[in-house]
Amino acid sequence: MAEISIRKVSKTFGKTTVLGGVDLDIFNGEFVVILGPSGCGKSTLLRLIAGLEEISAGEIAIAGVVVNALEPRERGCAMVFQNYALYPHMTVAQNIGYALKVAGVARAERQARVEATAKSVGLTEYLDRKPGQLSGGQRQRVAMARAIIREPRVFLFDEPLSNLDAKLRVQMRHEIRRIHNRIGATSVFVTHDQHEGMTLADRLVVMNKGSIEQVGTPAEVHDRPASVYVAGFIGSPAMNFLPGQISLVRRGVLLENGTLIPLAQMPVLEDGHLVQLGIRPEHARLTPRGRGVIEAQVDMIEDLGAQRLCNLMFEDMPFCVLIEARPPLPAGTPVGLDIPAEHIHLFDAASERRIEIALPLPVAAPAEALTG
Ligand SMILES: Nc1ncnc2c1ncn2[C@@H]1O[C@H](COP(=O)(O)OP(=O)(O)O)[C@@H](O)[C@H]1O
Ligand SMILES: [Mg+2]
Repeated sequence: MAEISIRKVSKTFGKTTVLGGVDLDIFNGEFVVILGPSGCGKSTLLRLIAGLEEISAGEIAIAGVVVNALEPRERGCAMVFQNYALYPHMTVAQNIGYALKVAGVARAERQARVEATAKSVGLTEYLDRKPGQLSGGQRQRVAMARAIIREPRVFLFDEPLSNLDAKLRVQMRHEIRRIHNRIGATSVFVTHDQHEGMTLADRLVVMNKGSIEQVGTPAEVHDRPASVYVAGFIGSPAMNFLPGQISLVRRGVLLENGTLIPLAQMPVLEDGHLVQLGIRPEHARLTPRGRGVIEAQVDMIEDLGAQRLCNLMFEDMPFCVLIEARPPLPAGTPVGLDIPAEHIHLFDAASERRIEIALPLPVAAPAEALTG
């Protein structure tokens, strides 16, 4: 049985449909990340689970109980927000213990639980401080502690790290995952940051305009994106797309300029079927001029330190390749491009959904290549 079961859930504000029939099962102890751009309905979905908004249609059950009509405090969820919402006039200890005080827990027990919770998030030394005397990361930990102390069945996180600087964000990300692993509660974490999503999630839920595009492990979503949208959203730098049509006779995708990109296996489609061919920047390869399947021109090379991002132009389309070397390639230099067949993604041009190509089984990497 799923810990959280979301069935055909819709949400409308006036005439605007913000969520249109969402179905999702979240399992006990799972860390699920809801990922999507700003405005796609992530917070709304989380607030429906928490009971902070009313569902327009459909059903949400938590631990087998339909919660549609239950108050937020009856649902066993604790929510951690982006703007921690700490009480500024209370000490850290008082902030952490507040929910217990309201619930009428006796002073001695309250104190013991505050101390234990503070210890679990590394706040023991700060119990007497006020929020104003803490760093951003410490405040975030107080917000976490305040949620943990209630021993919720479910943690709901709404972009809790967005206000922190890059380094602290990574630190807190690790901390949240460690706390999750230790406590074993179910976590639902909303973010627009694909790196946060990829690194935190057991399963990723990719949202687009009020619907779920794909649910899967980070590896599944990255390696087999279900749509053009997911393929373009996950992965950095973003996947390149080339429009073309299936050529059965020539066993590949015929681009609009007549260039043929060979495929390893032909999908079950009719000749001339319109497709989008996708290839990730780390999978395309630069070749000397005249030796690739595509001929392109250098637009600009960006040095990322460990790698170089080659921004090319293929006809009037931008095309991006990630390489290790530092080639002396001034703007305007003609280059060739190889599009390795085993890394090609195909999408239906009309529906933008993934087209499966039966690939030959990958050759396992020799053990010594992994162990050195
Ligand atoms: N109370 C509300 N009234 C009207 N529209 C709302 C309300 N809350 C959210 N919306 C709209 O719903 C859409 C989704 O919002 P939200 O769930 O906050 O997105 P996200 O968290 O993914 O950025 C947005 O277009 C937003 O303007
Ligand atoms: Mg939001």
